[in-house]
Amino acid sequence: MFEVIDIQPKIGSEVRISREDFLAGTHAKEIEQLLVDRSALLFREMHLTGAEQRQFARTIGTVTDQGDDGLSMISMNPEVSSVAGYTRGAFYWHIDGANDPIPAKATMLSAVVLAEEGGDTLICNTYAAYADLPDEEKAKLEGLRVRHALEATQRLVTPQPTVAELNQWRSRPSRSHPLVWHHKSGHSSLLIGATGYYVEGMSREDSDMLFTRIQEWATQDDYVYRHKWTVGDFLLFDNTGGMHRADWYSLDSDRLMHRCTLDGEEPITN
Ligand SMILES: [Fe+2]
Repeated sequence: MFEVIDIQPKIGSEVRISREDFLAGTHAKEIEQLLVDRSALLFREMHLTGAEQRQFARTIGTVTDQGDDGLSMISMNPEVSSVAGYTRGAFYWHIDGANDPIPAKATMLSAVVLAEEGGDTLICNTYAAYADLPDEEKAKLEGLRVRHALEATQRLVTPQPTVAELNQWRSRPSRSHPLVWHHKSGHSSLLIGATGYYVEGMSREDSDMLFTRIQEWATQDDYVYRHKWTVGDFLLFDNTGGMHRADWYSLDSDRLMHRCTLDGEEPITN
């Protein structure tokens, strides 16, 4: 069984597949292609163990070396996750690994414990958002470069940092990326999100307005899939042409996701 049901015209598909085929990678090539074409892939109520999630992840890429052999606990509880403080940055639209030389290829979440309220995951398709921009807007964005930094995200979480916090954020590398990423596939995506600190060579006012405008465009309902979780759901989303965020939930919540991230495979060359 391998069945794909589109959820919205421009983003999101549900994939129905037997557990055996899912774990064996029988349809890995199709899933990889769907990931880019549809941005978000839902596998309902899979109830994967950590080992099974890793096993599937390895069929479609190289699992990023983090957490427990590639599996991270995503929680706001510092006793469960050592980076719980940083996780609050996930309430804002972002891509994973924007401060790395090659951003992550994809991220996948398995729902273990749900928030009592809120905690949906939202994904937007920035390939489609870019493709739909008017030509004159595309021309304006061409050649612009954005500085991405941890500081940009953390200022949203901690607007009044201490000097120690600021030094800590700035000890992590920042990265300059083109605002429009032209991929080898011939498609282009928008490289924006909360890690984007400023557009290089632009005034703060103009940079902020540009970001706000482009982000508002890219996160219109047509380009966004909002996933309302059921325990055991498994969600796989593209990170090369998409942003994601968690909808607000209580910081006291026991919400727990198991996450694997895949290493990026395509350097940004433009
Ligand atoms: Fe993320």
